[in-house]
Amino acid sequence: MANLAQGAAVNRRFGFLENSNGNAAAVNAAAAAALQQQQQQQQTLNRDNRDRKAVEQLLVEITDRDLRENAIYVLSKLFGQAAKRDVIHEMIPLLWHSVGCIAALLQEIVSIYPYLLPPNLSVGASNRVSNALALLQSVASHKDTRLPFLNAHIPLYLYPFLNTTSKTKPFEYLRLTSLGVIGALVKDDDIEVINFLLPTEIIPLSLRAMEAGDELSKTVATFILQKILMHDVGLEYITHAPERFYAVGQVLAKMLTSPNPEQPPSIRLLKNIIRCYLRLSVNPRACEALRDCLPGILREPAISQYFRDDQGCLSSLQQLLRNVYGARKLSFQSGGGLEHLFAG
Ligand code: TRP
Repeated sequence: MANLAQGAAVNRRFGFLENSNGNAAAVNAAAAAALQQQQQQQQTLNRDNRDRKAVEQLLVEITDRDLRENAIYVLSKLFGQAAKRDVIHEMIPLLWHSVGCIAALLQEIVSIYPYLLPPNLSVGASNRVSNALALLQSVASHKDTRLPFLNAHIPLYLYPFLNTTSKTKPFEYLRLTSLGVIGALVKDDDIEVINFLLPTEIIPLSLRAMEAGDELSKTVATFILQKILMHDVGLEYITHAPERFYAVGQVLAKMLTSPNPEQPPSIRLLKNIIRCYLRLSVNPRACEALRDCLPGILREPAISQYFRDDQGCLSSLQQLLRNVYGARKLSFQSGGGLEHLFAG
């Protein structure tokens, strides 16, 4: 009896434990969910604190020659999560401001210069420097460190890597990670970045990477060119002299006519190429020149099947062809296989 009474009291107080009551079950589930959420938050908090401490420790270790290689490797993995985790992103300025850290990264970079020419770079050395470059990419991607990074002229340290032409793995990896740093710089359309990159001759270096690099390097290099062209100063720079325009046009065309027909350019690369051409076609003189040198493959019916799922890219291509060939010329050519692009 006493037990029963006690049981009733417990039920009144902890009604949500009552299973026979539907509401109580819902409340119960909600409580469990809340608890789980709380636990998850606590876990995230613990992980954030742990990572924060780890980063601080690693930033000290970078300045120790014996610990440097490993510290850079672990940090590059951690900072690689910056895009997804605010707590890591917020630590990027710490990397920039920690005494000796950037100097250590630069030391890593210049230490392999002697192996660039004649090309004699080991996979290990390339990996090691690529990890340092990954850290510089974080610095280039953070809005608070991007300008100081430019003002210190640090991108220039990567230019020798972009100047290489060897297609071996160590060089390819170095090229790609170097392009990644420049790509992070141009990503947010800061005009200061363009004003830095143009006079330091990033364009011929990007063209070189498009020629020497593999598919992924080509894609990033073309992305960089496209971002530069989107700014008026960039378009003016490239169309300023016919030699410049033709140098760019030639490399873009070459990427389209892949040596292996079985392996056409990836959609991502194709998109970037089309965006570059479209932007060039905005300049009247370049537009006129494109009439003679735009690769025929862009007018072939087969190309539209590429973009079946990408209306934006298809309309870029249509706009490009309209700019270059004009509406009238186009209807004149309409036996030539262009109709498929202009339907609708
Ligand atoms: N100094 C060269 C120039 O101003 C740089 C350059 C080489 C260049 N190739 C290019 C610039 C292609 C733009 C496009 O012309």
